[in-house]
Amino acid sequence: MPGIPLRNGGTAARVAVIPGDGIGAEVTPQAVKVLKAVAAPARRPLEFAEFDWGADRYLREGVSLPAGALEMLRDEFDAILFGALGDPRVPSNQHAADILLGLRFQLDLYVNARPVELLHDRLTPLRDRTEKDIRLMVFRENTEGLYVGVGGFFKKGTPDEIAVQEDVNSRKGVERIIRYAFEYARQRGLKRVCMSDKSNAMTFAHDLWQRVFKEVRREYADVDARHLYIDTLAMEIVRDPGQFDVIVTNNLFGDIISDLGAQLAGGLGLAPSGNIHPGKTSLFEPVHGSAPNIAGKGIANPMGSVLASAMMLEFLGWAPEAAALRTAVREALQQNFVTPDLGGDKRTSEIGEWLAKKSVEAVAQRT
Ligand code: NAD
Ligand code: IPM
Ligand code: MN
Repeated sequence: MPGIPLRNGGTAARVAVIPGDGIGAEVTPQAVKVLKAVAAPARRPLEFAEFDWGADRYLREGVSLPAGALEMLRDEFDAILFGALGDPRVPSNQHAADILLGLRFQLDLYVNARPVELLHDRLTPLRDRTEKDIRLMVFRENTEGLYVGVGGFFKKGTPDEIAVQEDVNSRKGVERIIRYAFEYARQRGLKRVCMSDKSNAMTFAHDLWQRVFKEVRREYADVDARHLYIDTLAMEIVRDPGQFDVIVTNNLFGDIISDLGAQLAGGLGLAPSGNIHPGKTSLFEPVHGSAPNIAGKGIANPMGSVLASAMMLEFLGWAPEAAALRTAVREALQQNFVTPDLGGDKRTSEIGEWLAKKSVEAVAQRT
């Protein structure tokens, strides 16, 4: 990621591990196994501490995000490796809102970076599209929008009930994510940034996005800046994904478009993300959720978590190790050594073992 000063001078790093619920608790240990394997030969220590925050603890003790947790993560850890939260026994999803949205908001992780990258041609459902067509970055604003929980009920439970949920957009919040997208494009030599909103209908909140975008783009004359309404973007990204390098959008639209993008590149089992505040403790997780429909079967794809770990290593300044993890995933895909979501018969732990071994080999070649 551009503009991120390395913490600890790029040497030792401390990682908080929150596996969470369902398949989060299955894929995360595999990613940790891979991380430990590549860290072992390195001269720099990578330290892990695990936290059992999730549905079980919430149901048992009524605790979601424990008191003091935010300060501890902020002060004692460089990064957080997160699995997923969501459990049918907690229909309100309250613990997920407290923990995941709590961390995103309160650690001010305003950049949700969700790369969409096709790692093997056979994995896309799009006809005649190849790796060179599907390679883009979605930057999702991660601290505001419809997610902030401003709203309420009136006459709840009656036939006259009213439910209101406000779309909260601050000048500062919109500007910093748009600026980050342009900086990312410029630093990586990418030519195209597309901002997406629904300003034709959301005439207040998204008018702000329009005005800020017009202002910021003037500073980046070297980048081709374009706007698409979100409905058109959803269509265009399927019709011709090759026209996009960087997409920047709000919290809700980014959530939706990143799942769409994930499927273009092989599905949720492969999609990583970083919840980032440059220079501060940041959180890395697969894009997928806890997948109750396959939880407990040992067949979840851990590659999204491993690729999120690669993003985390890059953030921590461990570039060769990050590249090794990506190489290992590519090799597994080439050899069709995959879980059932990708048409294979391998189990979560088999993929983890394989990636750990291959990552160590790959890092030995690079360092
Ligand atoms: P989901 O991402 O959990 O699952 C959607 C579909 O993708 C399911 O068919 C699932 O089996 C499949 N899938 C997802 N990840 C996979 C993997 N690694 N390997 C193989 N198949 C995989 O979305 P959902 O079913 O809408 O949500 C389930 C729960 O997860 C809900 O409680 C939701 O709120 C929560 N959720 C949490 C996060 C998060 O913690 N970041 C993200 C999304 C959803
Ligand atoms: C994601 C998830 C979350 C979100 C849910 C679980 C609140 O879908 O990380 O993409 O909408 O941000
Ligand atoms: Mn989502």
